[in-house]
Amino acid sequence: MSGQKTWGGRFTGGTDERVEAFTESISFDRRLYRHDILASQAHARMLGEVGLITPPDADRIAVALAEIGAEIDAGKMEFSISLEDIHTHIERALIAKLGDLGRKLHTGRSRNDQVVTDVKLWVRDAVDELDALLTDLQRAFVESAGREQGVVIPGYTHLQRAQPVLAAHYFLAYVEKLQRDRDRLADCRKRVNVLPLGAAALAGTSLPIDRESVRQKLGFESVARNSLDVSSDRDFALEFVFCLSVIATHLSGWAEEWVIWSTTEFNFLDLPDAFCTGSSIMPHKKNPDVLELTRGKSARVISSLQQLFLLVKGLPLAYNRDLQEDKRAVFDAFDTVAGCLAVAAPLVRQTKLRRDVIAARLEDGFLDATTLMEALIARGVPMRSAHEAVGTLVRECERRQCRLAELPDDVFAASGGGAEVRAVLGVSNALAAFKSYGSTAPAEVERQLLGWRERLG
Ligand code: ARG
Repeated sequence: MSGQKTWGGRFTGGTDERVEAFTESISFDRRLYRHDILASQAHARMLGEVGLITPPDADRIAVALAEIGAEIDAGKMEFSISLEDIHTHIERALIAKLGDLGRKLHTGRSRNDQVVTDVKLWVRDAVDELDALLTDLQRAFVESAGREQGVVIPGYTHLQRAQPVLAAHYFLAYVEKLQRDRDRLADCRKRVNVLPLGAAALAGTSLPIDRESVRQKLGFESVARNSLDVSSDRDFALEFVFCLSVIATHLSGWAEEWVIWSTTEFNFLDLPDAFCTGSSIMPHKKNPDVLELTRGKSARVISSLQQLFLLVKGLPLAYNRDLQEDKRAVFDAFDTVAGCLAVAAPLVRQTKLRRDVIAARLEDGFLDATTLMEALIARGVPMRSAHEAVGTLVRECERRQCRLAELPDDVFAASGGGAEVRAVLGVSNALAAFKSYGSTAPAEVERQLLGWRERLG
């Protein structure tokens, strides 16, 4: 047994089976295999360039590694906990193919810098995949904005009716959030894109390796400066999972909103059957389970972030085996968010607003009250007085059970408003009155919609 281990020389006895089962990471780090192979190919070629092996030997290693990759692709690699992790499996497979030459691959590196290099390569791809998923969801919201462009909906604060907004403005609000998610990931990618390999175990190496050459081959932007920092650095993982947590939080809020909007009480949305489920006992039910799970799964993502923080918070320099656990949190958070995004986009595309239902109750709830106040302000009434006057009018409406537009002229005159301020009453008039940059003013929303269409292609 000990002969199989990468540390065989130092040990006489084998490892206890329970320890193998306890310490293995192959069950979850096998998904790094492509990245491990890429990093090893770059490392081997560099060893060939600097004369630690010959260039033809470097080629043989690179070719054999590609074969091993194809074998893993084809499901032909037998994984065993006795080989602990994906790095050891691939190295053993290489030695099985190339004998002593395979035993040279690990020259000038350690699993400590290797594992973090692999994870960084993996996260870099994951960031790119997420960017594509986020862009697709942005496009879905932009399409909804285009489809529902003229539709006016109530805007809420405290989930109470506040002011009217264009449905397009509403959908574009999510496009903005998702854009920040993309920008945050792009920023995180900069710190992911620093090459760890070559830091070796913790102190670097006395062998003449060329880290710059490996950097170029793997497309990293720069080379990590401090070898001691490298193997303990999981900031990039924290940042990545933080980015994922913000995405999950955005999706969760949106899901909550649509769960509410799909209730009989609101009835704003017609959710597609294909994205709902029924009840085993209540024949009439159509439940928004996809939205509920999107909300629920955010808990996993946010707890992955917490898990990572707890994992790294007390670690002395440099590598500690605790760090092996980082991948569970990173993979789980990514899988969860990617899964949510993959169903969110088609769900958004297939969901229609129930325009009639929304229109039928749009004049309820004094959505025009704030615009009325602003009309008074525009005529010179001090803001606080205008606020009070409209508050009084609303109270009067409640007493009479009517809308602001239905109040008689004399009641209005008492509030300082003449006939002309009544021009902003009613939801469509109130909406048309908006002007400011970034507001729900129709011309402004139109401009923003065009901008997003152009930006997202
Ligand atoms: N399986 C380990 C991990 O994923 C590989 C690194 C092991 N390094 C060590 N010094 N034992 O972190």
